[in-house]
Amino acid sequence: MHRFDITTPIEVKSLDELDAREVALVEAALQATLRAYSPYSHFSVGAAIRLSDDTIVAGSNQENVAYPSGMCAERTAAYYAHSRHPEARFVAIAVAARDSQGRQPDEPITPCGACRQALLQYELLAGAPVKVYMAGRQEIWMAPSIESLLPLCFKDF
Ligand code: THU
Repeated sequence: MHRFDITTPIEVKSLDELDAREVALVEAALQATLRAYSPYSHFSVGAAIRLSDDTIVAGSNQENVAYPSGMCAERTAAYYAHSRHPEARFVAIAVAARDSQGRQPDEPITPCGACRQALLQYELLAGAPVKVYMAGRQEIWMAPSIESLLPLCFKDF
């Protein structure tokens, strides 16, 4: 018998420790929360993706009276980005949220499992790591890639 452990390195920074491009991406995610349609959860999520041509594409969560028909911010942004810019590759994604009071939660927002799998597809397509910025009120958590957030992921058959 043997075992192996899987660890994910998460860098933690404040907004003023990020460079200008990183700040722009996080700010775009935060702005996108203002365009969320979340009448049921009152939890507004924004995601911003930097593409290889330096375009930033943002999306927000879109809820539905039939709950499962709603869509997370990350997938809204990813599917729009790749349908609008099919030649460009994903470079980085930032995610931010606001609660029903319009405040950013203390704890950084982390993508759900389904979004991780969906985003992994575009990381595989890019052939390079897509850095993930997860914004909280004080801290930004940074993961080096989508795959690092989805250990033992299904990526081939
Ligand atoms: N949500 C996202 O948009 N992204 C996440 O990473 C987690 C959850 C949305 C889905 C739903 O509209 C609301 O947040 C509450 O779950």
